[in-house]
Amino acid sequence: MRAKVMNRAPRAVRFLLLTSVLAVFATQEAAASTLHPAQLRVEWLSSPAGVDAARPRLSWRVESAERGQRQTAFHILVASSPALLAKDRGDLWDSGKQATSETLSIPYGGKELRSAQRCHWKVRVWDKDGAESEWSEPAHWSMGLIEPFAWKAEWISYRDTTPLHTNRQTLHLPPARHYRKEFRARKTVKAAMLYASALGLFEFHLNGERIGDAYFEPGWADYAKRGYYRTYDVTHLVQKGPNAIGAIVAEGWYSGYVGYGLLVGYGPARTGRSFYGKTPAVAAQLELEYSDGTRELIGTDPSWQVTERGPIREADLIMGESYDARAELGAWTKAGYTQTWPAAIPAALNDSTRAIVFDSAGERETELGFQKPPKMQAYLAPPIRVTAELPAQRLTEPEPGTYIFDLGQNIAGIIRLKVRGAAGTQVRLRYGEMLHPNGRLMTENLRRARATDYYTLRGDPNGETWSPRFTYHGFQFVEITGLAAKPGLDAVTGLVLHNDTPLTGTFECSDEVMTRFAKNALWTQRANFVEVPTDCPQRDERLGWMGDAQTYVRTATFNADVAAFFNKWLDDVEEAQRDFGAFPDYCPYPMAHGTPRKTFGAGWTDAGVICPWTIWKVYGDTRVVERHWNSLTRFMAWRAASTSPDGLGVSIGNPWGDWLNVGENTPIEFIDTCYHALDCRLMAEMAEAIGQSFEARQYRQRFVAIKNAFGKSYVTNGLLSVDTQSAYVLALWTGLMPDKLATSAAETLASKIARNGHRMATGFLGTRALLPVLSAHGQHDMAVRLFQNRIFPSWGYEVVNGATTVWERWDSFTKEHGFDGATGKNNAAMNSFSHYSFGAVMEWAYRVLAGIDTDGSGYARIQLRPSPPAPGSNPDQKPIDWVRAEYDSARGRIISHWRQSESAFEFDASVPANTTATVFLPAVSVDKIEESGKPLSQAAGVRYLRMEGDRAVLEVGSGSYRFVAKR
Ligand code: BGC
Repeated sequence: MRAKVMNRAPRAVRFLLLTSVLAVFATQEAAASTLHPAQLRVEWLSSPAGVDAARPRLSWRVESAERGQRQTAFHILVASSPALLAKDRGDLWDSGKQATSETLSIPYGGKELRSAQRCHWKVRVWDKDGAESEWSEPAHWSMGLIEPFAWKAEWISYRDTTPLHTNRQTLHLPPARHYRKEFRARKTVKAAMLYASALGLFEFHLNGERIGDAYFEPGWADYAKRGYYRTYDVTHLVQKGPNAIGAIVAEGWYSGYVGYGLLVGYGPARTGRSFYGKTPAVAAQLELEYSDGTRELIGTDPSWQVTERGPIREADLIMGESYDARAELGAWTKAGYTQTWPAAIPAALNDSTRAIVFDSAGERETELGFQKPPKMQAYLAPPIRVTAELPAQRLTEPEPGTYIFDLGQNIAGIIRLKVRGAAGTQVRLRYGEMLHPNGRLMTENLRRARATDYYTLRGDPNGETWSPRFTYHGFQFVEITGLAAKPGLDAVTGLVLHNDTPLTGTFECSDEVMTRFAKNALWTQRANFVEVPTDCPQRDERLGWMGDAQTYVRTATFNADVAAFFNKWLDDVEEAQRDFGAFPDYCPYPMAHGTPRKTFGAGWTDAGVICPWTIWKVYGDTRVVERHWNSLTRFMAWRAASTSPDGLGVSIGNPWGDWLNVGENTPIEFIDTCYHALDCRLMAEMAEAIGQSFEARQYRQRFVAIKNAFGKSYVTNGLLSVDTQSAYVLALWTGLMPDKLATSAAETLASKIARNGHRMATGFLGTRALLPVLSAHGQHDMAVRLFQNRIFPSWGYEVVNGATTVWERWDSFTKEHGFDGATGKNNAAMNSFSHYSFGAVMEWAYRVLAGIDTDGSGYARIQLRPSPPAPGSNPDQKPIDWVRAEYDSARGRIISHWRQSESAFEFDASVPANTTATVFLPAVSVDKIEESGKPLSQAAGVRYLRMEGDRAVLEVGSGSYRFVAKR
């Protein structure tokens, strides 16, 4: 406000104002706000380029070291230039002072935003006493090409005269193509934006520089319906005069190998490749804005040139990449390049390619020639990029000339290879997650993924360095053959690749094995959040499996800020929804799985509801609910129509159920009933959140009807007729167990587990909910005991058997039986060492054991309920007696650090500004509690509410607290 008045005032007045303002400032210094807006985000991303939401959602955090601080109002300015913003002029939007505590997902409310509009913004806030903050640091975003006519570039390709590959016995791995175009910028360039898309994958270069640092762009969609595009500000790369732009284009998901298609003989001619089309194509436009305000557009068209020569001889996401450094093209992305390549052609000029496509839905004829995606969409997830480099830790030579590098950590990504040798030497690189006892690489679990790269040396006497661009692998070990001399340990560096979702959680506890497990879960998430939430990164699969995603989504939110990642993937999920309403087994859905019209599975299809619900719950994101509401209600209509007349579940679709359970099968009908009921509850909550109270009531009624039918059908004398651990878990978790029987049902569950040698028998679905259910219903010590188990099947068992990631099976490897599992019967081919589903227990570790939870949605209100086990409650391990968890929620950092001893329970807690928390502190009575060394009654910002059993219930505002409850 001060600055605004001054800028508009005449000079003399300005001086007077300045002196009086300074005087006021000096006297009011004490009253200045301690609340600062920070971390500005748009559509959950920091300063994104190419946003295509008409009213982008703006979010920030407010920070303060003061207790009990909160926001009472905000003021947003959005300007068309940094200069205007600096003058506090919001020519696009001046929100004025808005009295609200909200800091998340404020919809932009200014002038209509056009394609390519640049927006610069800042926000200031008012604190609990009405004191005004400084303006935040400025942030920005730019709009994508939102009007359809804004896309002017032509889709281009190379002339492709090769027949469609139809031989399932041989791999078909075409070279990546290089495209280039020289152009003159006639005047001084003020701004340059590049909008780029491909059917396939691209990597763009301008004047010798790679554009951005992302991999596997533009992204995977059902290209017949939609294409993703990316936007880059390339102002710094374009110069007045001659310029050159180039792109390398590879097959990717569009025409390369996808999933298990080759293994089972799905896809065009059963080859497992070319699911969406035969020949990659690219479309891009570079928009130049000159300093005199005029504009010029350089778009892809037949004046671009393309070559199939070049070093990247093979490039496939699953199979690997081959690079011949002797065939490098020189300065092909610089102006003045002397080679001439053939002209590119309009992609539509390539011939039509009709092919018979096979999958579980049967045979049908499909067009694999170019089809322009009818809709273009901005890619608004954090890009896939290298987020860490891991130097090799060990080098072995199991047989002469075969060198194996151990990164010490299972990851997904690529390597940087550094070698020296004679020109023409071909190095073969194979990747594996494990070694055989004889030291050789274990590749059985890769199935049909070739996962092999080749590098042919150019013979540089100073050595040469290379990384693949269009492939990635799941691996800890890299095998090199083909070198004449033994390489050094520095020949291999692991490059960790995944969507760069900001990491948000750390978890440590007194049990070192479980501290390691927490890291393993995070590593597994990093290895699998690659474009979509995948099941595993190593074998020929890497699909967005729905069951895995729904079991894990809540854990994912603790480990990383996945709001934008899931916002993006949920569009893919809606796109893959079947015409009859079900969500299929994985999304995107290039090939059908299972019986026609039964291409779904109980607990898998329901990810379509559970994932958006979780994103709403954790981030307070109601738009994701609104955006998919029609699709969700269509799904629920199908779900209602496909239950039995009394509302109970049925056994149709894929029969995975409690997949990978240990000897206890729970019938699909039962699981189906539970998930349908859960869907109803979650739909009711989401309906309420978006103001659909009528629908909310309907879903609640439907839940009650299912619950009644369930009670009649499955419950006798307080026991379930389905006598498995998972049956009890799911009935309790979904709320289907009659309320008055819940405690005794949990006792039954606990005694079943005890009779089973204190072991779980649960699979994907049961395990996710097992510990939460035990803890919620009076069996917390049992939950902690299972968490700390080292015996099969348990999380600790993996760790003590050497896991650095979460395994698909509890016994993917054992020291006694190797890859044959605890029972000696495992199938080595179906045995991923990087599968996050069983890692879903980390939800419980954060939410229950550390006790960090949202109360309502979006962590505006927080629940802190640290939950130690009873001392001595575990005869096998010392029960966990301290936990330190930190979580960067959407509103700021939450800390729960507790320590239990004979004399006291100590609890260090932090709650972000603008939130409040209810603390459930283990305590014998209120007068035994101190906060920062003072009796509770004198603690600033803490209000004692009541005793609730063995816990004192306290209300705290933002800030850091140190509670000690003496015994
Ligand atoms: C995947 C699983 C997935 C399952 C369906 C597997 O191949 O790896 O994690 O959910 O298929 O049962």
